[in-house]
Amino acid sequence: MVFGLGLLVNAVLVAIPIGGSVGTLMGIDAHRAATGQKPLFSGHNEDSIGHGGGGGGSDSTGDGGNHPGTSGDGIQIKQYCDKSWGITPPSKTEQYTLNPNQWGVTSDTTGNGLCMNVTTFNNQTYAPQTAPQFTITWQFDQGPENAPVHGYPNIRVDDVLPKALDEISELNLDLHWTYGLGDEPAESTDVQTLKDENLSTNVAIDMFLDSDAEIAKNGSNAKFEVMVWFWMSSETAQPHGWGKPVIKRNVEGTTFTLYTGANEHQQQVLSWVTENMTERFTGDIYPLITDLYNLPGDNYPAKNDYLGSLSFGTEAYSVDKNVTFWADEYKIDIKTLG
Ligand SMILES: *[C@@H]1O[C@H](CO)[C@@H](O)[C@H](O)[C@H]1NC(C)=O
Ligand SMILES: *[C@@H]1O[C@H](CO)[C@@H](O)[C@H](O)[C@H]1NC(C)=O
Ligand SMILES: *[C@@H]1O[C@H](CO)[C@@H](O)[C@H](O)[C@H]1NC(C)=O
Ligand SMILES: *[C@@H]1O[C@H](CO)[C@@H](O)[C@H](O)[C@H]1NC(C)=O
Ligand SMILES: *[C@@H]1O[C@H](CO)[C@@H](O)[C@H](O)[C@H]1NC(C)=O
Ligand SMILES: *[C@@H]1O[C@H](CO)[C@@H](O)[C@H](O)[C@H]1NC(C)=O
Repeated sequence: MVFGLGLLVNAVLVAIPIGGSVGTLMGIDAHRAATGQKPLFSGHNEDSIGHGGGGGGSDSTGDGGNHPGTSGDGIQIKQYCDKSWGITPPSKTEQYTLNPNQWGVTSDTTGNGLCMNVTTFNNQTYAPQTAPQFTITWQFDQGPENAPVHGYPNIRVDDVLPKALDEISELNLDLHWTYGLGDEPAESTDVQTLKDENLSTNVAIDMFLDSDAEIAKNGSNAKFEVMVWFWMSSETAQPHGWGKPVIKRNVEGTTFTLYTGANEHQQQVLSWVTENMTERFTGDIYPLITDLYNLPGDNYPAKNDYLGSLSFGTEAYSVDKNVTFWADEYKIDIKTLG
């Protein structure tokens, strides 16, 4: 169901970006190119893990993740503390790329930093469409008000996109995650305990869309950024347009509210945000996209625009003590017509 469509046009015209900078989650690509570093997502790089860190002068550049994995039962766990590194575990099924993606970490950043652990199977055979499990342990002190985000560690689907929106029929998601205090994965998310430590983060899918299929793949240049938030830990990590809900849509029993606004790169950021923390979600989220292209005006994508990239992760703003995000189940199945 779509509520309040009649209010929409006005709401969009007055939408003004407020709050934290949510945009350009993948802006680090441009930075890496400018500084002569290897581009992200350039394919297999197991041989060179540990050389991708890049000196940011803070703790969080880590040690490159050369810890020996825990072996046994044909499973390996590797840790990556690099600022930015494309991790593409060999897979005979779906291909995913993981990235610590600490694009907002600078020499002024303070805190314990961020590390991503990725669990891979030696047999390279995962259940259909299922991603390797990963955890992210991080702690950053509060950043400057105009740059509060330290990174968006995430997992991206490979080889499927770009696709025109009207060629996609379903975007099936099977998701379970938790956030916990400390260095270990938590059984479930204790919201109050995390609030007490001033956790400022979100858990979200991040997509980029554009009328040009190539530009749609580029997080810095795409005209639209579409996010689906499963948690906003506190209003310090709020979407663009917060306070000015546009429409609501119930998908598989979960209500999402749309907020819109431009980011500092003049990209239109369209964020669907759940009212309450949603640790588990199973179902087709494509109605959240078709709703957008059925809305009038230049501030919304058209149905022949392209979906260029899709990632899932957590935006690390700040927190007082180490926290661990655990994506123990992530399966995405993009179905196309014909
Ligand atoms: C994205 O676009 C920017 C600006 O044109 C460019 O510098 C950058 O290399 C592009 N990134 C990728 C991954 O193509
Ligand atoms: C691959 O390895 C994983 C982890 O050991 C195991 O759970 C899974 O059943 C294996 N798959 C096949 C097809 O052997
Ligand atoms: C968590 O915090 C401690 C300091 O209390 C730090 O030594 C450790 O490296 C952190 N863990 C991770 C995975 O970043
Ligand atoms: C991540 O890997 C490191 C190194 O193997 C290990 O010490 C740590 O406990 C792991 N963290 C999680 C959350 O599993
Ligand atoms: C963190 O939370 C505590 C209590 O919950 C509060 O007193 C304190 O001001 C908060 N710190 C910051 C930096 O917001
Ligand atoms: C969200 O939580 C609040 C407070 O616990 C509750 O009143 C509300 O019904 C919940 N909303 C949804 C959509 O579940």
